[in-house]
Amino acid sequence: MRRAIYPGTFDPVTLGHIDLMERALRIFGELVVAVSASPGKRPLFSLEERVAQVRAATVGMRQLEVVGFGGLLVDLVRAQRAHVLIKGLRALSDFEYEFQMALMNRKLDPDLETAFLMPSEKYTYLNSTVVKELATLGGDLGGLVPPVVEEALRQRFGPQGAPRPADEGGPGLSRD
Ligand code: PNS
Repeated sequence: MRRAIYPGTFDPVTLGHIDLMERALRIFGELVVAVSASPGKRPLFSLEERVAQVRAATVGMRQLEVVGFGGLLVDLVRAQRAHVLIKGLRALSDFEYEFQMALMNRKLDPDLETAFLMPSEKYTYLNSTVVKELATLGGDLGGLVPPVVEEALRQRFGPQGAPRPADEGGPGLSRD
């Protein structure tokens, strides 16, 4: 049974991420979803909150485990005794960054392979950044995020969202 690791910041987890987890579980016997602390991305939700959200959103998905981590991904992969990383590719624009990361991780651990999966085309436009922007502006999050995340975003920003002046910036708009 092959154990694979699906890493990400998951700030927050979206239905696109869940779609990818389901696909990975059809191929690999076990999946470890590894939630990165990613302090450099100044996440909206704490690591503990993100781990709890992914756990709640994946209840009932057998052979799936959720862990949080800081530091290097290859160290987590080794500790988990895995040899395969799962990454999602939504569009060509994802490719260059993911290709660089895959080769860097291979340099750090030559035994590690990265497998790229495509989410359903209905999620190709979706990422955590647009979800957060939508939430701050009070947009409809239905069909984009699991209910637990919708609730957390509404608690954070209120039902109408919390628009802020442009010069204050919004939640992290870095790539995710
Ligand atoms: O969902 P994201 O933010 O695109 O995920 C990026 C992630 C967490 C997979 C990546 O930043 C990562 O692997 N972070 C851990 C640190 C690391 O090992 N970096 C790669 C070698 S420099």
